[in-house]
Amino acid sequence: MGLQDIAAAVGTPCYVYDADLIRGAYATLDEAFEGYPHAIHYALKANSALAVVRLLHALGAHADANSLGEVDVATRCGFRPDQIIFTGVGKSAAEIDRAVSLGLLAINVESPGELDRIDQRAVAQGTVARVALRVNPDIDARSHPHISTGLKSNKFGVPIDEAPALFREMARRKGLRPVGAHVHIGSQITTLDPLTRAAEAVVALAHALRAEGIALQHLDMGGGLGISYDGGPVVNPADYVRALVTATRASGLQIAIEPGRVLVGPAGVLLTTVVDVKQFPGAKRFVVVDAGMTELMRPALYNAFHRIEPVVPRAGEPGPVDVVGPICESTDAYARDRLLAPVEVGDLLAVRDVGAYGAGMAHTYLRRPLSPEVMVERGEWRVIRRRQTLDELLSLEE
Ligand SMILES: Cc1ncc(COP(=O)(O)O)c(C=O)c1O
Repeated sequence: MGLQDIAAAVGTPCYVYDADLIRGAYATLDEAFEGYPHAIHYALKANSALAVVRLLHALGAHADANSLGEVDVATRCGFRPDQIIFTGVGKSAAEIDRAVSLGLLAINVESPGELDRIDQRAVAQGTVARVALRVNPDIDARSHPHISTGLKSNKFGVPIDEAPALFREMARRKGLRPVGAHVHIGSQITTLDPLTRAAEAVVALAHALRAEGIALQHLDMGGGLGISYDGGPVVNPADYVRALVTATRASGLQIAIEPGRVLVGPAGVLLTTVVDVKQFPGAKRFVVVDAGMTELMRPALYNAFHRIEPVVPRAGEPGPVDVVGPICESTDAYARDRLLAPVEVGDLLAVRDVGAYGAGMAHTYLRRPLSPEVMVERGEWRVIRRRQTLDELLSLEE
């Protein structure tokens, strides 16, 4: 069983996930806590394929949802409401209503106005909603600007200086019970220092609140741990967990983390077929493949790097090429001036590390149906989502 067989059976483009890599990544994080009270809330936004979410559930993860759809996916995959954290910078009235009625572990509050709306809905429902406050510590995650979230200039959370007053307000409200503080400063973070400083900031906040009689239960340190897309240095996940535990231990509070990418990113490859190769005198060599920004947005969105390799290498020296998709947008390129071994039309390429923010961000621009997803487990593979048909894509329309 190899990638070639899978591509031959389901066609390309297709995503292939390795369940054992996900298991291994989960175990590395979990074991690094060495018994310190914690919960690993898998961030469904990274990849919410039902089979992936069920796998994380079976491993003992809890869930972090960023929309009502993700909350419902989590419950359908077996998570109890008290294992689900709901985060979102603009929760609609319907989302708040349902989140309150489910009795989630925590709704992460993003603003004074939202605090008010959650309280009103909880009172109307005759219940008390568990809430955490998302604080913005104004710490530079030193990641790509499009995936940094913990700076004053970002739309997320409330400035940490405002947090004590808002916690007091939450404690006063009939419909709210403050249970945690939340911080998430960005994604694809590759140095430990900003993550440690963010953790220390929420621990200090929790200490100050306790002195006022507001006792939290958990500190939600968010997600954001980066992976090595290009072989460059990243934070060792066990070192990351140890740094969080060191920062938190004296408080005795439970640690929640919301990792996405580090759990599933390296477990996925995107298989794509070369559909054209062209080069004119004095110009670049273009390798055109059948996958594009519709299947993997990251290069077009943030110039992200993904390794690209022929599945069956041909003899010959690598040469510089642009690997581009078939979409009529100039940003639809997976790699520019990349050294690639010789390829011909019909060759299969593997785009690496697409398990996070790959299929989850896919879309159907140009009426391109969604591509299938395959899970490899114990030497066997199975389709966990088949290819969408054009009829299915059009079925909502008049
Ligand atoms: C609130 C929140 N939690 C968790 C995550 C997961 O981040 P990552 O996949 O980088 O671990 C994100 C993603 O940006 C997020 O916005």
